[in-house]
This record gives sequence, structure tokens and C-alpha cells, in this order.
Amino acid sequence: MNIQENYSLKDYNTFGVDVSAKYFGEVTSLEELTNILRNPSVQNSQLLFLGGGSNILFTQDFDGVVLQLNLKGISEKIENDNEVVVTSKAGENWHEFVKFCLDRNYGGLENLSLIPGNVGTSPMQNIGAYGTEIKDTFLSCKVLNLETLDVEEFDHQKCQFGYRESIFKREGKGKYVILEVSFKLTRKEHSMKTEYGAIKSELEKLGIISPTIQDISTAVINIRQSKLPDPKVIGNAGSFFKNPSISQQQFLQLQKNYPEMPNFPNGNLVKVPAGWLIEQCGWKGKQIGNVGSHPLQALVIVNVTGEATGKEIYDFSTMIIASVKEKFGIELEREVNII
Ligand code: EPU
Repeated sequence: MNIQENYSLKDYNTFGVDVSAKYFGEVTSLEELTNILRNPSVQNSQLLFLGGGSNILFTQDFDGVVLQLNLKGISEKIENDNEVVVTSKAGENWHEFVKFCLDRNYGGLENLSLIPGNVGTSPMQNIGAYGTEIKDTFLSCKVLNLETLDVEEFDHQKCQFGYRESIFKREGKGKYVILEVSFKLTRKEHSMKTEYGAIKSELEKLGIISPTIQDISTAVINIRQSKLPDPKVIGNAGSFFKNPSISQQQFLQLQKNYPEMPNFPNGNLVKVPAGWLIEQCGWKGKQIGNVGSHPLQALVIVNVTGEATGKEIYDFSTMIIASVKEKFGIELEREVNII
């Protein structure tokens, strides 16, 4: 493997932040990965594994070894008349993987079309959009245990998925590298999720009455393109914060002052869209220096000029947290990984 020194990570994070890694290498096989991890100088360094870099904010140069996981390949195994297991290596681009499945009419991932990033990082934060999360079709994943360098299999239960959560963001943080992910998808009896408001109206706009999974994908792509900025054009990492859940009591109290506050039941709690809270605080479309809140979706922080530093973006997010806390008494939690 070719290890580069003082390597710019600007093209490896969708915020387009220009930081550098002390050492950087692209890993294309498991053998290459285990070999480099056995190297004593690597073992003594700080390590960071990068996928598509679509959920990360670098606030400083990385004084260690960054390994970009470029393991490629997709395989499929027909289970029965209606089910297929599709397995993708970690380095495949997520949307290309979704397209692979749609081309074969395999259903289950269509609502997750056009999410930036790679397959290998999808279980980490249980990526989700438009009424679907990967936990709905996830079967298992293979991981490398960084302590033993053994390959282990994690089934659904072991991953402990939650809203934008999994074991890989909690107890398992820094302990495993996801090598490949398997999904159980449908071949015929697709259970289509069109109930998410925007999908229904987009399908209506397209004049589609009995949608196929490919139609749903088209609708999702149209919706995303209409309000989410393309990271290739303007740096961003999608939603910067999680949607907070608050107690019924706090919600009823707030509703007195804000009767129009959107809300969704979430067990005993009430989920309130962070985008709405941020917009109410006057941040939507606002720019400070090189950083802004997206004019069409306040939850997305953007590198407006392309020149923003990670620190500027982080400070901007801190100001948003403070104003939401002050106005609503709700503490927003960052969804993006801060390095
Ligand atoms: N809203 C506003 N102002 C805004 C943005 C949103 O008032 O500027 C309110 C609207 O009332 C809207 C509600 O928030 O009805 C929900 O907005 P939206 O449908 O855009 O979804 P979201 O809750 O803001 C979540 C995910 C997105 C995902 C969409 C669609 C999180 C943190 N984000 O956003 O995921 O694409 O739903 O399913 O759960 C991501 O994780 O990077 C991401 C983009």
C-alpha cells in the first residue's frame, strides 16, 4: 500500500474542509488492511477509518493514520421465490449500490436513494430517509475486530440499531471496521413505503398511480434534489443535528406558545423536527463568514464559499445549539462525527 505523508483530506470529506492527515493510505483488500494494522508504527498511532466522508467534520489536522476503505464488490444469493440477500463490500458508493438493487428489481432500499456515503458506514448511524432506515432490510455485517484482527459477524440484534444509532457509535466505537454489509431484499412482493407525505405528492406530480420501486426511487431523488444541496456542488454533510425527542410534558408546555410546532409521536416521547426549531430561531439561509444554514433546509449546514474551516463550521453549529436551547429549552445533538 502506498502511504502518503501530510496528505490533504479536502476531497475525502463532503464538507470539503481542507485539513491534512499525517499519513494516508487507501485500502483495497482485507489482507492489505490486516497487514498495515500489524505494522508497529501504525499500532502506536491514532487511527481513523474513512468511508465516503459524508458524515464527518474535521476541525483540525489529523495527527495519525487515515485509512480510506476502498473494498469493492457486490454479490447476491437468491434465497427463495421472493427473497434475495445482497452483500456489498464497504467501499461501494451507497447510491450505486441502491441502483444495482433497483436494476435487478430488488426492493427495500428505494427510499434510501441518493444518500451520500459508502455502504460500509451505512450501519454506523443506521442511515434513514423517507420512512425507511437500513435496519428494516439489514441482515448482517462482517467486521474486523481491531484488537484481535479477527473477522466477526454482527447480526441485526448485535448491531443495536436506533434512530441514527448503532453499537458502532457507542460501545463498539473505534473497535471494529465494517468490511461488508448484507441486506435481505424482496424480489416480487415489495412492501412499498409511500406514506411519507412528500413521496405521495411527488408521485402524484409525476402522474403515477401504481408506483414501482423504481418510481419511488425517482420520487425520492426528485425530493432530495429539490431541497438538499449536492455535496459535489456545495460542501455539507446532510442533516447536521438529530431530530430531538422531548417529553410529553415539555411538548405540551411549548405547544401553548407554538401551536404550529410540527411533532411526531416517538414512544412515550415526542419528536420535533430540528429543522423547524432552527428555522424559528432565524437561522435558515443565514450566513456567517464562510458558513451558512441551507436556505431550503435549515438542518443542513453548508460550506457556502468552499473555504470554510472545520472550526468555523463547528462554531456555527454551537451558535445554533445555543439559540435553540435559549428559545425552546431543547438541547440539539450533533449527528455528524466531529474529529
Ligand atoms: N422543517 C422546517 N424548516 C426547515 C426544515 C424542516 O420547518 O428548514 C420542518 C418541516 O415542518 C418538515 C419537517 O421539519 O415537515 C421535517 O423536515 P424533512 O422532511 O426535511 O425531514 P427532517 O426531519 O428535517 C430527516 C432526516 C433526513 C432525511 C429526511 C427525510 C434526520 C436528522 N434527518 O430530516 O436525513 O433525508 O428526514 O426522511 O433525521 C441526513 O441524515 O443527513 C438526512 C438528510
